[in-house]
Amino acid sequence: MKHVNQLDSEINGQELFFIPTMGSLHKGHLSLIENAKTFGLKTIVSIFVNPKQFNNSRDYEKYPRDLERDFQILNQLGVDFLFTPNEDYIYGDNLVNVVDSGNIGKKYEGNSRPGHFDGVLTVVNRLFDLVKPKKAIFGKKDAQQLFLIKEYVKNEKLDIEIHEGDIIRDSNGLALSSRNQLLSNNGLVTARGLKRHLDTLKEIYIETGSINESVNKTLNTCQDSKLDIDYLHILDKDTFDEATEETKNAIIIIAGKVEGIRLIDNIDFKVEL
Ligand code: PAJ
Repeated sequence: MKHVNQLDSEINGQELFFIPTMGSLHKGHLSLIENAKTFGLKTIVSIFVNPKQFNNSRDYEKYPRDLERDFQILNQLGVDFLFTPNEDYIYGDNLVNVVDSGNIGKKYEGNSRPGHFDGVLTVVNRLFDLVKPKKAIFGKKDAQQLFLIKEYVKNEKLDIEIHEGDIIRDSNGLALSSRNQLLSNNGLVTARGLKRHLDTLKEIYIETGSINESVNKTLNTCQDSKLDIDYLHILDKDTFDEATEETKNAIIIIAGKVEGIRLIDNIDFKVEL
């Protein structure tokens, strides 16, 4: 594996499959890489903890980082290029296009973390500009992020094929996240409640067909004082607006805090009420 901090024409000249990350790699990241490798292009993984997508500087400082371990993992996986830009290389140039994530970018996760999705789209756009990939892959774990990136690529007519990776969970249903390593063992047990809320809400929604009733029932059923739920919504997966009676593809998104650590999760399903 070749490790670079900057890109050059030798790398840009190849057909690349790009996997952007913020490092502290886990099996969720690895599944994206395994998926990308099946397409036969050269694979390039970036690791950049993007300050612009953290609305809270403590969260940015606390974000786990372990480049040595990440390097070993990626090397063993047979990734072709590891790209670890510094902040100046990404943002030093005044020409960086600051992307506005629009109406949907200000809802749900964007409402709780103002500016988060502007920061995500700005860095993804900048990384796309630098890497010039043919294809890129993002995980369904960050469903709103994936939705916004797909919309952006479509609206801007970027010639990049966006792939989607399934959510990888541990044996207790907890979605893998770099932030999970900031939790105690008790915290990890509490965090399983996110997936429990999602499953319960899906069940009650399918039974009752009523969004408000099923959300309230779920919040009452799954109460746990150590899990501080920020939001729980049933959305239309195709528009990312609140689900309606017309919704065919639904997605339930949840965010909550455990031991002060913010976690998100989601499940999607076809509606056959
Ligand atoms: P990061 O949280 O490191 O995630 C990198 C990629 O891994 C994202 O596409 C994310 O959706 C995916 N991912 C994370 N956990 C996953 C899981 N349990 N199963 C499947 N995929 C998972 O998302 C980001 O970084 C950043 O916002 C980034 C896109 C790199 C821009 O800075």
